[in-house]
Amino acid sequence: MSHEASSVWESAQVVGVLKEVKEHERRVSLTPKGAAALVADGRTVIVEAGAGLGSGFKDDEYSAAGARIAPTADAVFAEATLLLHVKEPQPAEFGKFRAHHTLFTYLHLAAAPDVAEALCASGCRAIAYESVEIDRTFPLLAPMSMVAGRLATQIAASYLEARNGGRGMLMGGLPGVEPTTVLVIGAGVSGRHAAEVAAGMGAEVIVADLAIERAQAVARDCGPLARAIVSTPQAIEELAPITEVMVGAVLAPGHKAPIVITKKVLDLMPEGSVVVDIAIDQGGCVEGVQLTSHADPVRLMGRVRVSATPNMPAAVPRSSTAALTAATLPYVRALASGWSAALSVHGELVGAVNVESGRVVHPAVADDLG
Ligand SMILES: NC(=O)c1ccc[n+]([C@@H]2O[C@H](COP(=O)([O-])OP(=O)(O)OC[C@H]3O[C@@H](n4cnc5c(N)ncnc54)[C@H](O)[C@@H]3O)[C@@H](O)[C@H]2O)c1
Repeated sequence: MSHEASSVWESAQVVGVLKEVKEHERRVSLTPKGAAALVADGRTVIVEAGAGLGSGFKDDEYSAAGARIAPTADAVFAEATLLLHVKEPQPAEFGKFRAHHTLFTYLHLAAAPDVAEALCASGCRAIAYESVEIDRTFPLLAPMSMVAGRLATQIAASYLEARNGGRGMLMGGLPGVEPTTVLVIGAGVSGRHAAEVAAGMGAEVIVADLAIERAQAVARDCGPLARAIVSTPQAIEELAPITEVMVGAVLAPGHKAPIVITKKVLDLMPEGSVVVDIAIDQGGCVEGVQLTSHADPVRLMGRVRVSATPNMPAAVPRSSTAALTAATLPYVRALASGWSAALSVHGELVGAVNVESGRVVHPAVADDLG
């Protein structure tokens, strides 16, 4: 690590809020209220013009909070030392990072070797939201997993409709008419929220996890009609012919997602069924899955529509930005006070560093990237 970079990392930070450049990404990494909190801490906050517009925050609101508006991303890169983003850097930004920068954002590097390479080449320190871990929970992943889980069921309900090429079924059925069967694989945060919304709509819910107690806890909260099973390839194959909706909500922290929905499973599902691969940001848990986007939300795989959009929460930027920034702000305030000072308050940030001084330093990420 260069002496110059490390001394910048130790000092109080100039906080820069970059406008998201990923397609259809409308979230922003700091709200005007968050900017006001940083300014009250004595920090300088620089916000790229228009950064908050997608989430309903005008430049004037940031100015009123005491932040300075910069006309371009280049101006933010030039002045700020702590760069805030929501999604991983895009190719147009790759060359802009410098060794003295700290980047704080979702990175998901195991699925993005080009981003890892660019960050290593810059020499910067990159800290991933999704790698902040306390007692095997992920406080900065959780709010977006909640949103993604809830959206997964909404998306599935919509693509079950005949006008969208679906099976023509109502998620909750009707009195005397069978409801849709929804299999949620992965009973963590996103899986719980997908299952709860499906159960709330009246669907028949089955929850699968490697850890049966997790699946049982979620099924219990989904009401008496919900069931829990141990997730095995055989169990999923057996359920496929009676399952109209599958939600892939698995996570192996730091690693690429395991494949839990195979091509065979897709072939066994009823025609017009829907699969939502929430884990696509970690490479996807559906065999042969292709990325989808907010503009092009599903792909036909055999007779089944599969949705695999890596930034699902961008569909509801107001809700998502509020949930995300409520979780990140304490960490941003700590990081803005300098690295050692930040660690004295949030020691868990050490384990969230993915890239530093030209190397991938997070063991699971390094392992997957070889
Ligand atoms: N697409 C998006 O926009 C979006 C948004 C938020 C989160 N995510 C992703 O969703 C995924 C899930 O996140 P989460 O916060 O719910 O994770 P989590 O850690 O809360 O839950 C994951 C669950 O998967 C289970 N699991 C792991 N391997 C399994 C397997 N082979 N079979 C069955 N269960 C298995 C674990 O036991 C755990 O209960 C992650 O990849 C995350 O990055 C995507």
